[in-house]
Amino acid sequence: MRHKNNTRILPSEITPREHYYDRRRFMQLAAGASIASLLPGPLWAADKLEASPNKAYQLAEEKTPYKDVTGYNNFYEFGTGKGDPAQYAHTLKTRPWTVTVEGEVHKPKTFAIEELLKLAAMEERVYRLRCVEAWSMVIPWIGYPLSELVKQVEPTGNAKFVEFITLDDPMQMPGQRSTVLEWPYNEGLRMDEAMHPLTLLTFGLYGEMLPNQNGAPIRIVVPWKYGFKSAKSIVKIRFTEHQPVSAWMKAGPSEYGFYSNVNPEVDHARWSQAKERRIGDFFKRPTLPFNGYADQVAGLYSGMDLQKYF
Ligand code: MTE
Repeated sequence: MRHKNNTRILPSEITPREHYYDRRRFMQLAAGASIASLLPGPLWAADKLEASPNKAYQLAEEKTPYKDVTGYNNFYEFGTGKGDPAQYAHTLKTRPWTVTVEGEVHKPKTFAIEELLKLAAMEERVYRLRCVEAWSMVIPWIGYPLSELVKQVEPTGNAKFVEFITLDDPMQMPGQRSTVLEWPYNEGLRMDEAMHPLTLLTFGLYGEMLPNQNGAPIRIVVPWKYGFKSAKSIVKIRFTEHQPVSAWMKAGPSEYGFYSNVNPEVDHARWSQAKERRIGDFFKRPTLPFNGYADQVAGLYSGMDLQKYF
């Protein structure tokens, strides 16, 4: 359809496409730099997230390529296929975002994500992630120990467990319209596990903010446990006296226990856990007790029957 009164735009008035994009990019960088320079915490511009590598938590193992870390995911809120999260998680809105910390604490508080990003120094830590489905990856995560946040809210003497609760919004998370799990996704840790220095409150990976499919804007990573313990896109952290019942425990109590420590000697109800396939490798490799972190965490479970508390 043509309109009579269309004003003609001269070709000379149109900004060439490449200049337009250059200008937009310049403005984005300038905005990012000026905001970042006002903040005492980490520097970030656009989706970058800077952090210093923590030398105590590096691995002499090849890192899983970025495209696999961000393209092969479990995030049932966006579908059960490994490629679904990368394809559909763009509908998740990660700003504004708050995390409410409640329950058995002296100082309950709702934190804005911006506050959490500044709460402690960002570290880059390379951790293995071992999924219950017998595959694994090696990922450079960015975050700080969960204990930094726990200290801020001062748990009461009754706080024995910590529960992590994911966003519940089927408009943003279309996978929640399915009944594959009871929503919202939740997970939990015992207090000493939550306070362990390995437990990372995570905001980024590979030098950038978490992509949506990896649990933006905030998740936890618990490297000695099966991957499903590492809840994504957290909106609530609740301190409790009693052991929480996780979404996976509700879905299959004989298949998913509360502890879920990586254990080659305890089979999953439907498959062995003795080996795993590192994404990108052809041959399988033996699974290590506590995913290779036994020297750091085995002591948390001394005297416990890990066949029973799987
Ligand atoms: N968190 C939420 N909210 N929903 C999920 O479906 N899947 C878990 C865990 N966290 C999941 C979740 C599982 S099974 C794994 S293996 C890891 O996320 C995968 O993390 P990654 O995709 O960043 O590698």
